[in-house]
Amino acid sequence: MKKYTNVTDLGNLKDAVKEALEIKKNRYAFKHIGENKTLLMVFFNSSLRTRLSTQKAGMNLGMNTIVLDVNQGAWKLETERGVIMDGDKPEHLLEAIPVMGCYCDVIGVRSFARFESKQFDYEETILNQFIKYSGKPVFSMEAATGHPLQAFADLITIEEYKKTERPKVVLTWAPHPKALPQAVPNSFCDFMNEADVDFVITHPEGYELDEKFVRGAKVEYNQQKAFEGADFIYAKNWAAYNDPNYGKVLSTDRSWTVDAAKMLLTNHAYFMHCLPVRRNMIVTDEVIESPQSLVIPEAANREISAQTVLKRLLE
Ligand code: CP
Repeated sequence: MKKYTNVTDLGNLKDAVKEALEIKKNRYAFKHIGENKTLLMVFFNSSLRTRLSTQKAGMNLGMNTIVLDVNQGAWKLETERGVIMDGDKPEHLLEAIPVMGCYCDVIGVRSFARFESKQFDYEETILNQFIKYSGKPVFSMEAATGHPLQAFADLITIEEYKKTERPKVVLTWAPHPKALPQAVPNSFCDFMNEADVDFVITHPEGYELDEKFVRGAKVEYNQQKAFEGADFIYAKNWAAYNDPNYGKVLSTDRSWTVDAAKMLLTNHAYFMHCLPVRRNMIVTDEVIESPQSLVIPEAANREISAQTVLKRLLE
């Protein structure tokens, strides 16, 4: 594997999940693979889980790790080509990336959507520059349009907890006070559309996701109807995708918050969220603290998805 930016990079998804579950049984079995190899993790945005789980995954494989927080300690980077650099950014990404590539064997990049230009975000301008100019295998630690390490961990979790061969999985929009990228729901759609599940997406009108990710999935605008018979409820907020509202918050309607009454409509469903989560906006305390909540096992599986991806990039 030369890069990891979306589900297709994993090849056969069943094999990838099987490999991940094998790694989980003995995560130190491949300690030799990363010996004398350096993992560079570049963060343009904050992180708790991705930072810790990916670093741990690298350590499990015997790698050395360098973490660079671009906005804390490094030079401010210009990202637009053609700009006259007479402002507050002394270094251009086009020099910084190949320099970073000199010091490592694999590079992870976190660079969220900025919501300044849909084209800039959806062309994955920053991530693709790393792929083009670093000279090293690159993986996404959440980019503008996708979070494939998260979605892979989510699928591993569903595989571990499912009670039927083909569970019903519902992705539900839920309210949030700030504009959040579509990266997590996009990747979740990508993975669920490839997995052996019945996949339904529910959101208020105006929150339609990019068709490239939704593909054939069923979209149900009535949240309660969508919840009926569900085996897994995956909650997430995202800002509007469609023009002219790209990147805008159209609603903070708390009637979309996942609560115990709605969970009663399901087939005793598990609750999932990638974290961090705003309690009593996205989900009530009662639901996230219930035995059906998988938010911690999901986070734990981030180490496993990252380790599977790193192992494949090193091999
Ligand atoms: N779910 C996730 O990616 O968490 P962080 O933003 O804390 O890394």
